Amino acid sequence: GSAPPGDPVEGKHLFHTICITCHTDIKGANKVGPSLYGVVGRHSGIEPGYNYSEANIKSGIVWTPDVLFKYIEHPQKIVPGTKMGYPGQPDPQKRADIIAYLETLK
Ligand code: HEC
Repeated sequence: GSAPPGDPVEGKHLFHTICITCHTDIKGANKVGPSLYGVVGRHSGIEPGYNYSEANIKSGIVWTPDVLFKYIEHPQKIVPGTKMGYPGQPDPQKRADIIAYLETLK
C-alpha cells in the first residue's frame, strides 16, 4: 500500500528512539550505518566515508519516500543481503512519520 501522511515531529522522536542506534541525522556523521542526513532523493551507497555492502551499492535504488516506505518495513526484502541489521517497522504510520522527518534533513 501507499504511505499515509507522516508527522515529522513524531518521526524525529521515532528516529531518535529506533534508527539512532546505528544512524545519525547529522551531515557526514557515519556510525554502524551511514548518516541519513539528506538521504531522501539520494542514490543508495554513496555517503562518503561509509563502507557499504555490495548488496546496497548494487541495488541501484534511489531513496524516494515510496521506496523508503517499503525498505523500512522489511530491509532484507528490498535489498537482499544488506548488512542493515534491523528487522523492519511493521506500523505504516510510524514508517510514514520517520520518512516525514527524513525529508526535513536537508
Ligand atoms: C542495527 C543497526 C541499524 C538500525 C537500527 C537501522 N539501520 Fe539503517 N542501515 C544500517 C546499516 C549497517 C546500513 C548499511 C547497509 C548496507 O551497506 O548494506 C544501513 C542503511 C540504511 C539505508 C541506506 C542508506 C544509503 O545511503 O544507501 C537507509 C535508508 C536506512 N538504513 C534507514 C534506516 C532507518 C530509517 C532506520 C530506523 C527505522 C534504520 N535504518 C535503522 C544499520 C541500521
